[in-house]
Amino acid sequence: MLAEFLAELDQLSCDALTAFQSAGDVAALEAARIEFLGMKSGRLKSAQKGLGAVDKADKPKAGQRFNQLKQQIEAALEAAQARLDSGAGAVTDGPCFDPTLPGIRPRLGHLHPLTQTIEELKDLMGRLGFSVVDGPEVEDEWHNFEALNIPLEHPARNPLDNFYLATAQRLGCAKPQAVGTGPQAAEEKELLLRSQTSTVQIRVMEKTPPPVRIISLGRVYRPDDADATHYPMFHQIEGLLVDRGITMADLKSVLRLFASSFFQDDVHIRFRPSFFPFTEPSVEVDMSWQGRWIEMGGAGMVDPNVFRAVGYDPEEYTGFAFGLGVERVCMRRHNVTDIREFYKNDVRFLEQFT
Ligand code: PHE
Repeated sequence: MLAEFLAELDQLSCDALTAFQSAGDVAALEAARIEFLGMKSGRLKSAQKGLGAVDKADKPKAGQRFNQLKQQIEAALEAAQARLDSGAGAVTDGPCFDPTLPGIRPRLGHLHPLTQTIEELKDLMGRLGFSVVDGPEVEDEWHNFEALNIPLEHPARNPLDNFYLATAQRLGCAKPQAVGTGPQAAEEKELLLRSQTSTVQIRVMEKTPPPVRIISLGRVYRPDDADATHYPMFHQIEGLLVDRGITMADLKSVLRLFASSFFQDDVHIRFRPSFFPFTEPSVEVDMSWQGRWIEMGGAGMVDPNVFRAVGYDPEEYTGFAFGLGVERVCMRRHNVTDIREFYKNDVRFLEQFT
């Protein structure tokens, strides 16, 4: 309200100065006086009414500006009278501009908290030598599943757990195609919104010979009901390092360095045995933070089958991969308790992350 009120006063000031300066005779000046300073319906009078709508806390500031404007307009009237008395005509040169007036301060925005987190994660991993790569959000089954060692009968491929796109085949307009293996066959198959950023591992390794040291960040999609910790769309960061002689110890060191720098605290990492089709062994990663163990995400050593799918020799190379939820990391950092806050676009929430 304050910003609007001040903007209105600025406009009024500009209009009044122009009117008084361009008044070429007594009648025109009188008309301008009535328009701006008229006791009953002058514009200054009606602007004064707007003061009532300004928040209580902003009233002193608004009132001060109003008084300043009133004095300025009265001074402009006097100056115009003196000018006409001295026989000079209208002042026509120069726009109405009073450099002594306070300016209108634009309201500056800032990056969304998730974008801030993503930028920070990129920066941290960049310092550890990982470069950032991007991948498509609409994926084929080869990159989202098969090359990641997730076979057709795996429950993760259940249509109810994924956002498949309605292809002609699915809509019954085309003959179903034989399910094959390998990238060629995958091209004929169905598309879905990627359910994990691990897809990018495959895309990178298909194109680049080892060594590889990348991270990928972006949106992933799963048909979960929205609650305080779930949302059908969220963000993941995926890391992949492949070289000769890479071990779980490297994975642990990288994750510990990464978490310690992000939380600016000496963070410890704990591995719990787990299972992911594309890593072997697989672990859940927890970190100790503020005296508690907190889940960070999944990780493991890249499964030899994944290397075979992309044409790497599993006898020569080893590597690790990890995947973390960006929302989770951001929520921990800022003590946000409901993931849905991130997507509501409510400035009262977003403004807290300047
Ligand atoms: N992609 C896994 C998930 O979405 C996380 C993960 C990434 C696990 C890399 C191991 C290695 O749950």
